[in-house]
Amino acid sequence: MPKFQAPRGTRDLLPAERSAFLRLEGIARDLATRYGYQPIETPLFEQSEVFERGVGAVTDVVEKELFRVQAGRGDQERERWALRPEPTAGLVRAYVQHGMQTLPQPVKLTLTGPMFRYDRPQAGRYRQFWQFDVEALGDPGPGIDAEIIELGSRFYATAGLTGVEVQLNSIGDGACRPAYIETLRAYFGRYRADLPELERARLETAPLRLLDSKDERMQPLIAAAPTITEHLCPACDAHFAGVRAHLEAVGITPRPAPRLVRGLDYYTRTAFEFHRPGAAGQQQALGGGGRYDGLVELLGGRPTPGIGFGLGLDRVILALAEQGAEPVAEAHPSVVVVGADPEDTVARLRVATMLRAGGLSARADLAARRLGKQLEGAARDGAHFAVICGDELAHDQVQLKDLQAGTQRRVELADLVRDIQRAEAQHRHGSVEA
Ligand code: HAM
Repeated sequence: MPKFQAPRGTRDLLPAERSAFLRLEGIARDLATRYGYQPIETPLFEQSEVFERGVGAVTDVVEKELFRVQAGRGDQERERWALRPEPTAGLVRAYVQHGMQTLPQPVKLTLTGPMFRYDRPQAGRYRQFWQFDVEALGDPGPGIDAEIIELGSRFYATAGLTGVEVQLNSIGDGACRPAYIETLRAYFGRYRADLPELERARLETAPLRLLDSKDERMQPLIAAAPTITEHLCPACDAHFAGVRAHLEAVGITPRPAPRLVRGLDYYTRTAFEFHRPGAAGQQQALGGGGRYDGLVELLGGRPTPGIGFGLGLDRVILALAEQGAEPVAEAHPSVVVVGADPEDTVARLRVATMLRAGGLSARADLAARRLGKQLEGAARDGAHFAVICGDELAHDQVQLKDLQAGTQRRVELADLVRDIQRAEAQHRHGSVEA
């Protein structure tokens, strides 16, 4: 085994997998643009306090999973940093920092990139993973809530993933949640002696977190716990009904999930997750999000409503493979430039450079080997054409071999790009047999 390995819980995305990610990133970019989301990037690390305040100090993400960054000696005295476990807190920090509250609202932002959580690694759970994230700030809903959920659903459908369902809940707000939390504390309090250690501690600090405990022993208690939907105030109830009405208008029937509270503290009202029931690892969400009407204020801005989602790209790739989707085709050069004289790599490089400058994807065979071997390599590459540099080069001509049609002809160097483009276009339109 090699001495150096990618860190546990991380992996190298080799070309086939990276291509699959790039396809998803392309879909994300295209959909985000069509729905009016502007691209933004924030640093991969922030002051830890952004996450401690934003995500919440008493959450798994901050208590157990934060990658704290140690930098040059002395610096950590003044500032403490952490790798981002999720993008929302940093993005809201940027919204406040750059005064985006003065822009026409809502401000709709999107980001796709790596997140870091020091979680126990397993299939679909990594220490570095990728999210497609969108956030709409400044719109109290409920229409935008439904629009965002529909955007998430469309992402999966466009990626080719079938059977994805939306699980939907409302977790109330400052008016109704405190009473519910007391109900929850009383309920779980009856089982205090049976609670695992962490949950017993959280019964005092954050009883809501008990509902998203991953501990097996908690599952029967969670299943029988009182639900927040029975405790919503009239305003939250009306908002929740509004979200469902707007979802219905766009053809989405969510599955009610009255115990879904999500693992982050910033949520208010709408909370949702995307799942593929029946699939392996089904307890793992493909994506999730919700409304966070208190977060901007918590991070120093004026009170501003917000809602968004994060979709886990790694899990989409796993789910697509599980569903038996075709792997993403690897890119092939359309032209390989070969030569009759094994030693004359200068001519091959010069012609390939000319083809690439003309907009074609071309590879020069730069190994000093026989023409036959070079042509075998071109076929193995899946190239459509081989350009053969031979004696004709002295008269600015080459041989153009169509590897798919099995034909060959002499072409002026000056016409080469145009001739290849024409042949490719004809091929695409079906007038050349593949
Ligand atoms: P989250 O539910 O913590 O939400 O993460 C969103 C998605 O990221 C999950 O549904 C899952 O697909 C993926 N994910 C999370 N952890 C891992 C992991 N260790 N390995 C692989 N995939 C993972 C958030 O992060 C919120 N910021 C979403 C949001 C945006 N809410 C409002 N705006």
